[in-house]
Amino acid sequence: MTGKIVLLTGAGISAESGLGTFRDKDGLWTQYDLNDVATPEGFHRNPDLVLSFYNARRKNAAQASPNAAHFALAKLAQEHPAEVVIVTQNVDSLHERAGSTNVLHMHGHLAGALCHACQTRWDAPEIMTKSDACPSCGAKSTRPDIVWFGEIPYYMDEIWEHLATADLFVAIGTSGEVYPAADFVQIAAQAGAHTVEINLEPSARVSDFAETCFGPASEVVPNWVTSELER
Ligand code: APR
Repeated sequence: MTGKIVLLTGAGISAESGLGTFRDKDGLWTQYDLNDVATPEGFHRNPDLVLSFYNARRKNAAQASPNAAHFALAKLAQEHPAEVVIVTQNVDSLHERAGSTNVLHMHGHLAGALCHACQTRWDAPEIMTKSDACPSCGAKSTRPDIVWFGEIPYYMDEIWEHLATADLFVAIGTSGEVYPAADFVQIAAQAGAHTVEINLEPSARVSDFAETCFGPASEVVPNWVTSELER
């Protein structure tokens, strides 16, 4: 029987919910230059472009539904006798809408807004504009509460602690191309965790995993959860 489980999810778990991934064919980074829409410099250069990019993603995410993989992970957390924590790189709320509660959004979330001036956070309106004023300090310096390239991901101290105490580390739907998340498998393995990659195809870090399982998340993840709960 497995003890604490740490799950790392990426865009691939939400792909079958209709949300694009980043590096697949037709992925978001094939349609936009990430330097224009996912960096502080890009936001400073053209806030309208960045805000409209995230307004469109926020609308897509709100219209999407969790798929069988999201629901399976919520079931795992409900039925597994030890802690199950989801560290997600995703900025949609599909894990929560499937019933997961122990979720850490290391790259922020589309449903959040942040004031650049005073760091206040609040629920983002459907459409954000550069003339929006911070509800706390009134400054017209609001941005999506998303962690951009070159910025420090959220919850890192908690994440390091989870990786150090995991019995099982499972990466689902991530290409292993972005750090620090791409290093999590090695850190968990060094701490003694068994490691599993569940993905559509081998990721950049596939050789670091003790076990692999390939196929669409909505099929493979429920089967994996069933087998894990039967252990
Ligand atoms: N089921 C399972 N895996 C899938 C599916 C699917 N239906 N569809 C795609 N995948 C896999 C792809 O094979 C790929 O390995 O999901 C992965 C998606 O990789 P990326 O597009 O790079 O997304 P991700 O790994 O989440 O990116 C990490 O990069 O741009 C930043 O902040 C952004 O959080 C993002 C980070």
